[in-house]
This record gives sequence, C-alpha cells and structure tokens, in this order.
Amino acid sequence: MNMKKILAATAAAGMLLSGCSKPADTATTANSTASTTAAPAGDAKTVKVGVSIYQFADAFMTLYRTELEKYLEGLSDDKVKYVVDVMDAKNDQAEQTNQIDNFIQQKYDLLIINLVQSTSASTVIDKVAEAGIPTVFINRQPSDEDMKAKDGTDFEGMYAYVGADARQSGKFQGEIIADLPNKGDLNGDGKLQYVMVVGDPENVDAKYRTEFSVSQYKEKSGLDVEKLDEQRGDWKREEGQKIVANALSQYGEKIEVVFCNNDDMAIGAVQSIKDAGRTVGKDIYIVGVDALEEAQQLVKTGGMTGTVLNDHIGQSHKAADLGIELLNGKKADAEGHVYMVDYIKVTQ
Ligand code: GAL
Repeated sequence: MNMKKILAATAAAGMLLSGCSKPADTATTANSTASTTAAPAGDAKTVKVGVSIYQFADAFMTLYRTELEKYLEGLSDDKVKYVVDVMDAKNDQAEQTNQIDNFIQQKYDLLIINLVQSTSASTVIDKVAEAGIPTVFINRQPSDEDMKAKDGTDFEGMYAYVGADARQSGKFQGEIIADLPNKGDLNGDGKLQYVMVVGDPENVDAKYRTEFSVSQYKEKSGLDVEKLDEQRGDWKREEGQKIVANALSQYGEKIEVVFCNNDDMAIGAVQSIKDAGRTVGKDIYIVGVDALEEAQQLVKTGGMTGTVLNDHIGQSHKAADLGIELLNGKKADAEGHVYMVDYIKVTQ
C-alpha cells in the first residue's frame, strides 16, 4: 500500500467500525450497572470506563491507549459523559488484578482490559461476571475456551475480544520478502537465510508472526529457508538492537533477512544493521509489524523493506463501540465472541 494511503485507510477503517454506534442513554438500559450518576451540569449521566493496559512503556500500546481514551471521551454528548481511567499494569499480573478489583469495587460501568497474562482471563472473567460488568479484552487474546466459559449463563455475550489475526500479519511479512525480485535470496543458493526476532510469547501475536512469516514465504517463493537465529526480544527496541547486533557478528554476510515480530524491535535492529556497515535493500532485508510512524519513515526512505499496519485506530474504536453496545444490553454475537480488524501490508 502506498504510504500516503495508510492514514486515509486507517481513518476509513475507524469510521466504518465506529458507524452507527453513538451510545444510547445508558440510564434507560437494562444492563447498565448501578454507578451511572447525574453529572453536576445538565442532565448528562457519567459512565465510568476502567482500562488496564499491560504496560505503558510498549510503543504500539501507547498509540492504542491514547486513541482509545480520546475516542471514548469524544463519544460523550449531552446525555452521557464517558469518564475514562487508564491504568498501567507495568507488566505485572498481580498489579493488574488489583486494578480490576478496584474497578469492580468502585462500580465502574465498563472495563477494557489488555491482559498481562492471557492465561489470567478465566480469573478475570469470573470476577467481572460475578459483578455483572461488561468487559472487552484487547490485544492479548484469551483462549477460545475462556471466551466461551460463560455461554449458557446470564453473562453470555457480555464479554468479548477485539484484536487482529496475527496469522495475517505474519503472512504479509513473508509475502513482502517473497515478492522481492530476488525473493530475498541475495546469495542465490535457493534458500533464505534468516534471523527471527520474537516478541513476548504472552501474546499469541509473537507465536503466529514467527510461524506464518516463514510458512507463507516458503509457499509464495517456492524456496526453502534456513534459520540462523531466533531470539526473544519482548517487543523492545533495545532488545531488537542487541539480538541483531549479536546475530550479525556471529553470522555476518550469511544473513539475508531479519524478520521482527514488531516495529520497535525492527527499529533497534536497523541501528545494528547500520553499525555493521550493511545496507537495507542492497545486502540485507528487514520487515516489522505495527507501522509505527518511525517505521513508516524508514520504509519510505528504504531503511526498512516493509512493515504491516496494526490498525490501532480500527481496533480501539471497535473496542469502545462494542463496549458501549454491551453496556446498552447488546450481546457480543460474533463467533466465539471474538472480533478481528484487518492488517494492511506496507511497502515503499
Ligand atoms: C502486538 C504489537 C506489539 C506489542 C504487543 C503487545 O500486537 O504488534 O508491538 O504492542 O502487541 O501485546
């Protein structure tokens, strides 16, 4: 996709997803919990939305949470005022569980949760179900079993997941390399020698991007692959830089492609590639995911081969709109109560 079109596409996705979702007056709906209170000015009711983000330091989740807060607050009108509290779970599940307990105790109306550990979903679901608070999980997908755990109870369809199918982002990464005129095979040995920089496996995005980038590359290019190195970088720029610096000093010119599970790690890796005197597009290739502003600039100027837009606008708007619908009594009726927003391939 052309660079200039990215913003337009993102905005369009957001508009599509947010269409027709202006909240009704929550005071008149059956499922609204008791804490809606009259605001001092006019007749507007206050709806308290509690958000817990796995870690504020994460670059992509910073874009996401900023947009989520802005969008939700912007849905306020003369009938309803959305008050949004966003908490940093600091990558600590105990801290996040505390935050959720506090939200419940203080009778928040709606929760939006970016889990620290996806496996904690069942505990969280039990808590919010008991309190009857509609909840939208984002970014770190609970298991299918957890998403269906309350089917057949009063809480069925009152919690949901909004995310993006990481298999798609991995496939797009593989295609970006397979679509190069030389298919990335710089040394022409019929095999792609690569390094994989993995995110935090707590998010299934790391697993799927690692797996599907390579399988799709093989399928599309018809070539074989040789993995030189695979290391966990926890989505962090400095880890990406370290891992790729080490790989470059160990494998040198053998490395043809660096696959990074996200852009922040790729941006760090690009620094190490430069430090090693290598040139992206000439003697090495690198792809990321997220389409952070800095990565978009790198793609534009040839400093990165490509990235994949992780649509934080579409995802945050969908999470907010769906949350409000749940609050207003609608049931999450997608298959498995899971809603996915598309990724978009980004090349020069
Ligand atoms: C991914 C994103 C990463 C990181 C992670 C956090 O979807 O690509 O950059 O934000 O979520 O769970």
